[in-house]
Amino acid sequence: MSNKYNETIAFLKPFLNEQPETGIVLGTGLGGLVKDIQIRHQISYAQIPHFPLSTVESHQGYLIIGTLAGKEVLVMQGRFHYYEGYDMEQITYPIRIMALLGIKKLMISNAAGGLNPDFEIGELMLIHDHINLFPENPLRGHNNPQFGPRFPDMSEPYSFDFIKTAEKFAQTKNMVLQKGVYAGVQGPCLETRAEYKYLRTIGADAVGMSSIPENIVARHMGLTVFAVSVITDKCIPDQLKPLRLEEVLAAAQKAEPNLIQLFHYMVGKLD
Ligand code: HPA
Repeated sequence: MSNKYNETIAFLKPFLNEQPETGIVLGTGLGGLVKDIQIRHQISYAQIPHFPLSTVESHQGYLIIGTLAGKEVLVMQGRFHYYEGYDMEQITYPIRIMALLGIKKLMISNAAGGLNPDFEIGELMLIHDHINLFPENPLRGHNNPQFGPRFPDMSEPYSFDFIKTAEKFAQTKNMVLQKGVYAGVQGPCLETRAEYKYLRTIGADAVGMSSIPENIVARHMGLTVFAVSVITDKCIPDQLKPLRLEEVLAAAQKAEPNLIQLFHYMVGKLD
């Protein structure tokens, strides 16, 4: 393993008193889960050796170490996007670090545009599969066998068991929980009507600009992944309206109580 990874691990290890079980990536406008966490350390990305720095104002950049639902968690408050100019290694660096620190499960949230006409703004979609349309794969290049195999299997990118558990929970709470395929694109521009039509045709239910690189490195390192999209806007070609960032953030906020409840439950439940 390169010195870089060793240096980051050496910096972070003293902050851990227990083995973290779960890593969590908090997506756009979904930071409220933090209120449920008993925070022991909240470390600015700027302080952590070799961590990339967050550039988008709506994203804070902190690694949180604490407990949630009685479980030891590592939480990325703020993530890195390809459209910001980072390369794939930088985007996925914190995921690899969390895996090296011993997490076994990764929970991801993101904001996504709804392509499936049955989806409403503010609903949650469990991601059961994805279509990777990023121009690069984070595993391209020399494979480090300490991280994982050259050709990682992707037949279950998002744990079927976790999805079942989440669906059962949602039923007991009368929570609408959609399920679908997430298409990941590089952005930063939103898609054209023709592109939405294309994305729907190839089998996507939602589209966003994150999460897939994180999922790929997590699966490469043997983590089980659970991921949820908040549907922040409708991407139906004939009804398309200009989208404003404030609308995306407002929709994410509207969905936040359900997402928090779901993540809280799932962290406590997963073994
Ligand atoms: N495309 C369209 N709408 C969106 C996206 C996207 O990538 N992310 C959130 N809403």
